[in-house]
Amino acid sequence: MKKIFIALIALMLVSPLKADEGMWLPVLIKERINDMRAKGFKLKAEDVYSVNKACLKDAVVLFGSGCTGELVSNDGLLFTNHHCGYSQIQRHSSVEHDYLKDGFWAMSRDQELPNKGLTVSFLEYMQDVTDDVLKGYSEGMTEKQRDSVIRVNSHALVAEAVKEGKGLRANVEALYYGNQYFLFVFRTFRDVRLVGAPPSSIGKFGGDTDNWMWPRHTGDFSIFRIYADKDNNPADYSEDNVPYHPKKFFKISTKGVKEGDFTFVYGCPGSTKEYVTSDEVEYTGSVSDPRKIALRTQRLDIMKKYMGQSQAVRIQYSSKAASVSNAWKKWQGEEKGIRRMKTVAQKKAYQERFKEWARGTRYEGLVERLESLYARRNPYYLAYEYYNETVRSIELLQIASGVLGVLKNKAAKDAAVEAFFKDYYQPIDEEIFTAMLKAFDSQMPDEFKPEYFKEKLKAYGSVEKWQKDLYSKSMFTDKQKVLSLTKDDTELVKKDPAYELYEAFYNWYFNTLRPVINDVNGQIRLAYRDYMKGQMEFEPQKQFYPDANLTLRIAYGNIKGYSPSDGVYYKPVSTLKGIIEKDNPDIFDYNIPQALRDIYAEGGHEDQPVCFIATNHTTGGNSGSPVINADGNLIGINFDRVWEGTMSDIVYDPSVCRNISLDIRYLLFNIEHIGHASYLFDEMVFAD
Ligand code: ARG
Ligand code: GLU
Repeated sequence: MKKIFIALIALMLVSPLKADEGMWLPVLIKERINDMRAKGFKLKAEDVYSVNKACLKDAVVLFGSGCTGELVSNDGLLFTNHHCGYSQIQRHSSVEHDYLKDGFWAMSRDQELPNKGLTVSFLEYMQDVTDDVLKGYSEGMTEKQRDSVIRVNSHALVAEAVKEGKGLRANVEALYYGNQYFLFVFRTFRDVRLVGAPPSSIGKFGGDTDNWMWPRHTGDFSIFRIYADKDNNPADYSEDNVPYHPKKFFKISTKGVKEGDFTFVYGCPGSTKEYVTSDEVEYTGSVSDPRKIALRTQRLDIMKKYMGQSQAVRIQYSSKAASVSNAWKKWQGEEKGIRRMKTVAQKKAYQERFKEWARGTRYEGLVERLESLYARRNPYYLAYEYYNETVRSIELLQIASGVLGVLKNKAAKDAAVEAFFKDYYQPIDEEIFTAMLKAFDSQMPDEFKPEYFKEKLKAYGSVEKWQKDLYSKSMFTDKQKVLSLTKDDTELVKKDPAYELYEAFYNWYFNTLRPVINDVNGQIRLAYRDYMKGQMEFEPQKQFYPDANLTLRIAYGNIKGYSPSDGVYYKPVSTLKGIIEKDNPDIFDYNIPQALRDIYAEGGHEDQPVCFIATNHTTGGNSGSPVINADGNLIGINFDRVWEGTMSDIVYDPSVCRNISLDIRYLLFNIEHIGHASYLFDEMVFAD
């Protein structure tokens, strides 16, 4: 008994990190593997990450530019989320072939749909290159000199790493605010085809109503296949390409999950800021989040009003509305979470202890310095965020500036114009114009408004009059006019009132905001380099993990319910029964396909698992990540977090931070019963 007690104390001393927090670097898996195994994992370090031997990392890809995907067959079959493949599915959709609405299933390989521009990247290896990157740097050099040393060295490292060609690309990334540098070498494939997607009423079941929520019943998956040339190397799309044979793919477990089971998410989290000061947290939670939430509420209300009136407009704006609403809801959880965790006060108290410790060291004065830098930056940064959320959300200005950028290239211009008008509904844009410019006018202090804006508004007398006049005079509301523009029409575009407005704001941003923000942000980053190092010295016993930066990470934990509020406990697993409970033909987000109702009515599917939650520390970018069990087999696909825990990008709370995953058995259920594409099972390997 006493021994166990001592062992427990020892364990607490070496890992004071809260349970399950952390996004760990695979290359340092050896530092984690004992803890992982203590929590139930059965594989060895080299099964997870190895350079010389095929391992789990070889079955994980960065999908597109911000999601994760996993290989599940020797023929390049890949799973990711429905929302990660959404824009591809949408691009293949029209009112006649509405794959978003009805789903898409290739019944043979020649029916798989190519996707221009879509890539997937495998991590070949990662390597600590701090010493190489800083070779030639010495203490006392200016920051500019340091940057240039880093640039030259990184360039050489990258060139060396990719010299074999064959789809290799590499980059050097700063970790811990530039206290460490890692080289990441990827192999990127460019022919990735759509194999299957459920109807949105399954793949996006619950829509924005259930997004970031538990209990959840979304069948958030889509299926792709990677193609390669005949030598298994990356190639542009060609009919001659053949399915790619990966070094490794996941076996699928149908054993199922229960509370307490070990889970491991292997994917590419995008961005976190766990080590910032109270000022950054306060700005995020009390200024930025609430302001942006209010602006997006207005935009979403406008879009929803028109989407409810027409099926064509719904198709045009579903993807746009989803992306506006996604961060909008996440910020609501983040803001609340920061308040509930009292993170500002906690950080302040920590900073006081740090300051005490730092007295007389090179870290003295750092916290104060960051405080004054934030005070200088924040008003400028807020104006920049307003610019982003208001003026830059006006679609007419986007197309005006976009066209000018590609005017010299007729094919590119025409393609951009076609794509724009396919999904443009002018009444929505007009209302957003008015609402956003009014918000900008009433919420920004005068000193943070461009002169052009003030003059125009004065001349017109109201935003409404300005809007009417601009939309009646701009040529960018007229597709034919924009198509007929030639490479010699630069002046014509520049005189257009939509372009003029775009340019006036851009110049103001570029000349007034950007220099200050860049300058101060540079100083902030620099201060954080020291502050990060200082924090590591201040708490030498703590195990730090670098903030997320879209590089491959490991997060592990276990299946676990949570209590979102007093008197309520959420179980960790949802089932088909819950879908039927939510089913309602009158509510768009809950109107399931008739086929699903029919299957359910046959009986025997009540307990069909749909989603589960666990304590893995994840963030945006982890969407589509494989969720792996103790045996290293695939049990799910990560796709969300619960909104009560979205402050985990800043501060992790083990009591409510949960990632949401699709149970892999619901994906299989859909292939069989909805897609009638069971032929796909033949290439998968089932573990148990
Ligand atoms: N919240 C998830 C993520 O951050 C899913 C987003 C897509 N779904 C939606 N209903 N908008 O990406
Ligand atoms: N849906 C998110 C994504 O696209 C994951 C949710 C989150 O954890 O932020 O990566």
